[in-house]
Amino acid sequence: MCLIILANVLNRFETEAIASCYAFSVLPLYLIAMSNTTPLPLPPLSVIPPQIACVADYEAYAQARVMPASWAYLNSAAADQLTRRDNRLAWDAIRLQSRNMVSMSGGHTELTLLGTRYKHPVFIAPVAYHRLAHRDGELATALAAQAMQAGMVLSTLSSVSLEEVAANTTAPLWFQLYIQADKAQTMMLVKRAEQAGFRALVVTIDAPVTGVRNAEQRAGFTLPPHVTAANLAGMPVARQHIAAAGNSPVFGSGLADGMPTWDDIAWLVSATHLPVLVKGVLNPQDARDAIRAGVAGIIVSNHGGRVLDTLPASIQALPGVVREVDGRVPVLLDGGIRRGTDIVKALALGASAVMVGLPVIHGLAAAGATGVAHVLHILRTELEIAMVLCGCKRLDEIGKEVIWQP
Ligand SMILES: Cc1cc2nc3c(=O)[nH]c(=O)nc-3n(C[C@H](O)[C@H](O)[C@H](O)COP(=O)(O)O)c2cc1C
Repeated sequence: MCLIILANVLNRFETEAIASCYAFSVLPLYLIAMSNTTPLPLPPLSVIPPQIACVADYEAYAQARVMPASWAYLNSAAADQLTRRDNRLAWDAIRLQSRNMVSMSGGHTELTLLGTRYKHPVFIAPVAYHRLAHRDGELATALAAQAMQAGMVLSTLSSVSLEEVAANTTAPLWFQLYIQADKAQTMMLVKRAEQAGFRALVVTIDAPVTGVRNAEQRAGFTLPPHVTAANLAGMPVARQHIAAAGNSPVFGSGLADGMPTWDDIAWLVSATHLPVLVKGVLNPQDARDAIRAGVAGIIVSNHGGRVLDTLPASIQALPGVVREVDGRVPVLLDGGIRRGTDIVKALALGASAVMVGLPVIHGLAAAGATGVAHVLHILRTELEIAMVLCGCKRLDEIGKEVIWQP
């Protein structure tokens, strides 16, 4: 009932003029329905305050509504968090070239990707355990995706099962797959995603080991009992390996023996009818191997800086990957996108679409589905404004000329 009401609110909102995009209120009924939630430091916002004018403004509101240890998991990155910082700085360092007095008649942000028509190029990136941010978890996120006509990539580590998410949204869903040590279990996840109507598989290839997540360690983060990896229920849990002093902590753990390789991607491509994308490509050599393995798309990503610190910003790696791919498959990108101008820059440098991770989690923690919807709406609005001011009325008109060259 709560979800239906919210969907109506969001649908109504979506048809409102751009001028009203920063005025966003939540039906009080939503709060009543949420009143038996796990206690959090503050309840979700009932009204989006005018102080939230851009997606970065959500961060402080989110932090005030999440337990500190969960916040450390959600909001931090690997080691010294240099890649996470650079993800942002690299966008800021790029300047746009304006173009005035161009007809914008018939303009739109639609695109076709892997056979599906999307209203705009902003996708929700796969993020584990949305229930750490909000009790409704991925159900709230998927509802917002539906209302804002955004594609959503659901993590293997979602805290609501892939079947339940798929049954409760009409948003186009892709399933992010972590290849499991046991092929049969991997195949089971793939079949479940196929049966539930997911339209693509996104295999994350840049995290065969967990990054050095010092902020989480310092905060003593562990999953609270009400949050679990719902898709993996009943599957054997990987045992934690603690090496004795003087022993090899990673190579000596047996973990390295089961790590996936490009052969597993080729196997997967042959084992499913869904298009397979790989996520976590920065190195053009990986792009070459991925295409050889038969992938349908490549996602340039450094995992938001959460795995290997001191990797380059995603946007710095994009041109090399795009050159290598040479138009054979679509290239998407995530990492540090906080502004519509960032999306224009990504498309100008060869991406077909982008994904956002943390801003969605910030919106979710601050105000549930409404917060996520607002984040998506702000980004789309900023994208369209930037397109107009750069003289581009369609995504395919956003080329290298919109990047300012001194
Ligand atoms: C809390 C958190 C959990 C994540 N979990 C996953 C995951 O399960 N699978 C995955 O492929 N990427 C995961 N990512 C990485 C995102 O998909 C994405 O690459 C990254 O968040 C993009 O950067 P941004 O947060 O700056 O937008 C996670 C990111 C965050 C912040």
